[in-house]
Amino acid sequence: MNTQRRLFFALWPDDPVRQQIKLAPYPHLKPKTTPIENWHLTLVFLGPTNTNQQLKFEQAADTVNADSFTLKLDITGQFERARVSWIGCRHLNRPLLELQKNLESGLREHCPKHPAFSSGPRPYHPHVTLYRHIRKACIPEKFTAVQWQVDSFCLIESRPSDCPVYRILKRWYLR
Ligand code: 2AM
Repeated sequence: MNTQRRLFFALWPDDPVRQQIKLAPYPHLKPKTTPIENWHLTLVFLGPTNTNQQLKFEQAADTVNADSFTLKLDITGQFERARVSWIGCRHLNRPLLELQKNLESGLREHCPKHPAFSSGPRPYHPHVTLYRHIRKACIPEKFTAVQWQVDSFCLIESRPSDCPVYRILKRWYLR
């Protein structure tokens, strides 16, 4: 049987970073509709993936060469069509963008026929989703920045349900 799993690569905050996000004083936004243990920053969303493809993706991730870096989460925003509110980076974070580009192009090369790569690279908007199903616009706001020392990235399985359950399948450490 060739099992399909719903997969994505992400930065996975450790508990102190989750606590920082939780405790940051957002005047308008309270991070409460997605559970704290689900918070993450997606690098590449893959979707349904069979075992063979997963293996190729893991091999691609083995080839990623990147240094650890600091991420500053210092702004909130929202994607209106997806109806989510998030926190993210006010300024471009070069090491993050390089890691993402590097990983995505490796994944694409190792498994070009995967449906995730049926079109060219899509613009990347790094964010940590905090609210889903938002009804009204929220005002972007600055708040006490969350400092996140990123030293690894992970392959995650998402099991759909009312509230998705995420499971770390594998972790890769940065230099
Ligand atoms: P979101 O948090 O903004 O919803 C797992 O679903 C992760 O992959 C989520 O962080 C989700 O972003 C992201 N993602 C990116 N593209 C997606 C897609 N087409 N379908 C579902 N999730 C996607």
